[in-house]
Amino acid sequence: MDRYQELLKKTAVAGQEQLLRFWNELSDAEREELAAQIEAIDFSVMANLIREYVLNKPKTEIPDDLGPAPYFPLVPRDAEQAALYKRAIERGVELLKAGKVSCLTVAGGQGTRLGFDGPKGTYPIGPVTGRPLFRYFAESIRRAGEKFGRPLTWYIMTSLLNREATEKFFLENNFFGLKPEQVFFFTQGTMPACGYDGKLLLATKSSLSLSPDGHGGTLLALRRSGALDRMAKEGVDYLSYFQVDNPLVPVVSPLFLGLHDLENSEMSAIMLAKTGPFEKLGNFCVTKGRLEIIEYSDLPAELAESRNPDGSLRFIAGSPAIHMISRSFIEHLTAGGSLKLPWHRADKKVPYVDEQGNPVKPESPNAVKLESFIFDAMPLAKRTMVLEGERRSIFAPTKNPTGVDSVESCREMLIDRDARRLEAAGVKIPRTADGKVDAKIELSPLAVFDDEDAVAYVKAHGLTEIARGAELCLE
Ligand code: UD1
Repeated sequence: MDRYQELLKKTAVAGQEQLLRFWNELSDAEREELAAQIEAIDFSVMANLIREYVLNKPKTEIPDDLGPAPYFPLVPRDAEQAALYKRAIERGVELLKAGKVSCLTVAGGQGTRLGFDGPKGTYPIGPVTGRPLFRYFAESIRRAGEKFGRPLTWYIMTSLLNREATEKFFLENNFFGLKPEQVFFFTQGTMPACGYDGKLLLATKSSLSLSPDGHGGTLLALRRSGALDRMAKEGVDYLSYFQVDNPLVPVVSPLFLGLHDLENSEMSAIMLAKTGPFEKLGNFCVTKGRLEIIEYSDLPAELAESRNPDGSLRFIAGSPAIHMISRSFIEHLTAGGSLKLPWHRADKKVPYVDEQGNPVKPESPNAVKLESFIFDAMPLAKRTMVLEGERRSIFAPTKNPTGVDSVESCREMLIDRDARRLEAAGVKIPRTADGKVDAKIELSPLAVFDDEDAVAYVKAHGLTEIARGAELCLE
């Protein structure tokens, strides 16, 4: 059988012969490209997915017994819990000093909402210097390594679409002072986009329309890329996970890490009290004794709005997507070289070439993209742990250009956090009548990783006051 016949047979299993429509027009190299993409797909699995998720619109099953998840509060409830938190911090520091932790950032998303052309991590977020997101994390990772006496390795997941541009950015910026071998890039998988008629789309005559398969792909990609092996070789047991859009995140937190370990948790999460029933955060829930995060788009309104007798939201716990994950858990989940997490359907505008080979840019959604989510691994863990975080100190997502979760609000929060740190260290900060910082301040993450560093910095620099209206970066 020649190549074309083989491919035809393969695609026919799922009624996808249209992918070969332009075969006769293609050069050898183009044929090779298309064939490789087709060969990477299991069409019998694809046929089931199309039936289940594209031709039908599955509703996320909401179990009858769904309730809010328990969590460790920000302020310890009693003396016993306060002692536990103290022990956890000590344990966390011990683990950091022993080099048991690495960082993991998911940076495969496309930042379409931000309207920014380029990997999101390259976005200049610093309120004064325009320090890019990646630089925030890199410098913080550098400082944490110095502080705990063990350099941290940073695993960065990119997608096929932004891998090259991301690596180039690191090279051009000398890895922001990290050793190149401290940074491990790996690429997540892809999924073909499917038109509403159940037919996979061609992006060009010789290539499928492929998109990143969601951050649920991280776990398998960690195995396939050799990251898990490297961690094992280096004796690293834990991954401190965060998203590329949140420069306020502590890249490692001794309390969170220590509690994860003391509680024998396999996958832990930070939760925040939601600002309202429909804030766009995943919701921490329990069903049949298992922790589950239900995405904001999937939680029915009546549950999102349900309240406790005291008026507080019943499902108050939202996810800032900050996790601690044990290596052994990922190894166990991906042991057979595969991992089945549920798929989630997203309706998108996907450009394609039509039957005549003309490029089409749709004005409204025309296709389904399937993604899996890393937090769907939580119900698979034997033990989990959720710890409340302080929003203003850990969560400033950059998702939109203006408004909620925007570049603007993120910069404001970065300034506010740095100002509070300086204030706590004795520096007089100018504020407006409504309490806002009346200056633009940027503390270099390389100088200040935490509150303790801020005290040392202020002392070393004899800093006493920031002038009203000042614009300064403290390096
Ligand atoms: C996400 C979470 C939500 C959480 C919120 C906190 C999902 C589905 N939901 O929402 O529960 O409360 O953040 O800010 O993630 N990414 C990849 N590969 C992909 C897709 C995404 O690496 O294929 C990365 C992105 O680069 C980003 C992160 O995952 O770092 C989140 O993606 P995004 O699409 O921004 O999720 P949100 O809907 O904002």
